Amino acid sequence: MKRVLSGVQPTGDVTIGNYLGAIKRFVELQETTEPFFMIANLHSWTVSQEPAVLREKTLDVAALYLAVGLDPKRSTIFVQSDVPEHSELAWLLQCMAYFGELGRMVQFKEKSEGKQNVSVGLYTYPVLQAADILLYQADAVPVGEDQKQHLELTRDLAERFNKRFGDTFKVPEPLISEFGARIMGLDDPTKKMSKSAPSPYNRITMSDTPDEIRSKIMKAVTDAENEIRYDPENKPGISNLLTIYSLFSGESVEQLVERFRGQGYGTLKKSLVEVVVSHLAPIQERHRQLRQSGAVLDILKQGAERARAEAAKTLQDVKEKMGLVLR
Ligand code: TYM
Repeated sequence: MKRVLSGVQPTGDVTIGNYLGAIKRFVELQETTEPFFMIANLHSWTVSQEPAVLREKTLDVAALYLAVGLDPKRSTIFVQSDVPEHSELAWLLQCMAYFGELGRMVQFKEKSEGKQNVSVGLYTYPVLQAADILLYQADAVPVGEDQKQHLELTRDLAERFNKRFGDTFKVPEPLISEFGARIMGLDDPTKKMSKSAPSPYNRITMSDTPDEIRSKIMKAVTDAENEIRYDPENKPGISNLLTIYSLFSGESVEQLVERFRGQGYGTLKKSLVEVVVSHLAPIQERHRQLRQSGAVLDILKQGAERARAEAAKTLQDVKEKMGLVLR
């Protein structure tokens, strides 16, 4: 059975971009693969965090995984910092990674631009991500489009290591869907929807109330025409709304364009509000119950034990090959 690993950072509130581009697919994949899903809390510290908030957000993402349908019997669900092997392998891989290749990472360039004090962690962040993946010998990594470059680096590091030390790491494939891998910001459909964009009108979060969802969708930037057509290049706003609609409702974009033919943007937006609200309501209810029940901590503890057992095997092999095991 193919092994899959992916993760979400518990920084800010998880958006429907994270959900449609990644988390929703985790649920589909757990039926046919052996999956490991992580909460990437070490990655959060590449920018400063409030410890108490980070702790709560970590539990929030874990509860969200469960609320959307990840089943701890099928999926190993764990917190990155509970498995110290991630940090250890990250160090060893940092010694194999080149300054130049990390400097070319688009996400690093974007996140560091104009900032005075950029942490070294932000720079080496993709190497920690490579360690996350390679420790579990993952065959495939389901992610949104923005992670493509990090996956290429992961493959390069795995191949570099294998070439020098012999077969050690599985070289993983990115699993980026053709459709929905890049949900765009509602306030600016030329940029991706993001947890960290300054305006809350950029995104719908998984915990938004029906009123918030309504107000954000009704204000979403479109264009000066009034024709509902899927054309990401010339009509990014409407195309993004159609994409979101399609992924939430299961209807194809063609069906939607047909259904809304001749109707205005307002009609499409109002209908989309209903679709998003009705999809998120049961998830939010399960999330609330899970957060109250206290079950999440136990599930994470068991997940960490399972994850550690796998991670330790790979790390031991790596350390032996690198001359770091003496007895
Ligand atoms: P993060 O937390 O930024 O995002 C989590 C997942 O959501 C995807 N995503 C999107 N998909 C579609 N449209 C969008 N607008 C959108 N925004 C985000 C991301 O591509 C990602 O799949 N570095 C990772 C977390 C991570 C990881 C890993 C992922 C750490 N270790 C190992 C895979 C494997 C991150 O910051 O994702």
